[in-house]
Amino acid sequence: SLLSLAVLTGAGAILGGCSADERQSALTFTNRLRIPPPAAPVTDPDGAKRFTLTLQTGSTEFRPGTVTAGTWGVNGSYLGPAVRANRGDRVRMSVVNRLPEATTLHWHGMRLPAKMDGGPHQMIEPGTTWTPEWTVDQPAATSWFHPHPHGKTAMHVYRGLAGLFLIDDPDGPRLPSAYGVDDIPLIVQDKEIDSDGELETGGVDRGTFGLLGSTILINGTYDPVLPVSTSLVRFRLLNASNTRVYRIGFADGRRFDVIAGDAGLLDRPATVDRVKISPGERVEIVARFFPGETVVLDSRGEPRRTANDIEEDDFHLLEIVAAAQLTPSPAPPATLGGPGRATTPPGARVRRFSLSGSEINGRDMDMSRIDEVVPAGAVEIWEIDNTTYAHNFHIHEVSFRILDIDGSPPPPYQAGPKDTVFLPKNANARLLVHFGPHTDPLTPYMYHCHLLRHEDKGMMGQFVVVGPGTEHLVPRNLP
Ligand code: C2O
Ligand code: CU
Repeated sequence: SLLSLAVLTGAGAILGGCSADERQSALTFTNRLRIPPPAAPVTDPDGAKRFTLTLQTGSTEFRPGTVTAGTWGVNGSYLGPAVRANRGDRVRMSVVNRLPEATTLHWHGMRLPAKMDGGPHQMIEPGTTWTPEWTVDQPAATSWFHPHPHGKTAMHVYRGLAGLFLIDDPDGPRLPSAYGVDDIPLIVQDKEIDSDGELETGGVDRGTFGLLGSTILINGTYDPVLPVSTSLVRFRLLNASNTRVYRIGFADGRRFDVIAGDAGLLDRPATVDRVKISPGERVEIVARFFPGETVVLDSRGEPRRTANDIEEDDFHLLEIVAAAQLTPSPAPPATLGGPGRATTPPGARVRRFSLSGSEINGRDMDMSRIDEVVPAGAVEIWEIDNTTYAHNFHIHEVSFRILDIDGSPPPPYQAGPKDTVFLPKNANARLLVHFGPHTDPLTPYMYHCHLLRHEDKGMMGQFVVVGPGTEHLVPRNLP
């Protein structure tokens, strides 16, 4: 295939027996980047694609020769397969819980009925199977899935429960799309793994931010290297870390094109040298490579750092080794088909959310309280005002666009469809939120901070989507 194995074995050989200092200047990336295997659906008699996702415990060899116990995964010991569906497909999931405790599986970014959402109300007891189904009806996007049990999400995600859910649109623009060849997912996570390979979990559900790990895994790969064989490569970045925020770019400063955010394509490529990505967010980029070169993808903190900043550490993420001859890729289209910059619609309903240390509008999450009632199909402005240290804000079911952050329009690469927004210390954001058609007055969707320690501490609220005109009939307390 792509890889000259010599690159890998050679890198290993360079490492053998050199000092820590030499190691810094030599190749330090030694493990071939894992690509999450595509999930294989079966087609049910009614045409639905059925995926079986088994949540299980296991052990994982992150570093060659060192086994880390206590990892959890989906159809494997760590992370999960890439689920993939076309816009218009009917999908049916069999989520089998083989864990020692109850959990859920939430489809982050998916627009679907609340009962299928996999939030904290859709618990799956050990030894049981949950079978949600829905019709995929939304633009192409890089979505994902992860557990959402109230108070335990941080630990379940940290142990490894997460996976990609790729939505394709057969009518979309022509982009690099050979999965694992020039279309590469990069699931970025930080862990604390000691020299014996032990996964440290002590800090995950403690302190202000939970655990900030010093080891970065990409797709569950430690020190990853990726051989590439085409001149353009699309990377789908997913921040599946509990808390860390990354500012991702190339160590040599080369520029690249952002083509999509969380919930779909931009209107046109946005050229940048860094993208900031907080937990739960996705950014798709297209980068250019030259024959025979070696390039490092890394994360660097903001040049001017602020107190309580959670992005200040610098990390190498991935080494990319270009083949001596690269297959030329067609240029990406000048327009991508996504919506242009959002403008404020006159008369839209405004809701305000104030974020403090671990509360929203002064309240902790209460599973029996409905905080907001929204008419189906509404377009609203949600104003998020962060009064403390860094947070972010994710809304289930919807797609939104950032109108402004601290009064200024977002950078073009963040102006497209999204479902999660980063709020630095004391920042405020105005979001233009598009709600879907699925009504259910008794089953809420969530909005919350996606720093998982904060979510678990109660920085979450609940909304229901109901038939327009029936808002006043909706009970504010669930039975
Ligand atoms: Cu990615 Cu409510 O979560
Ligand atoms: Cu937060």
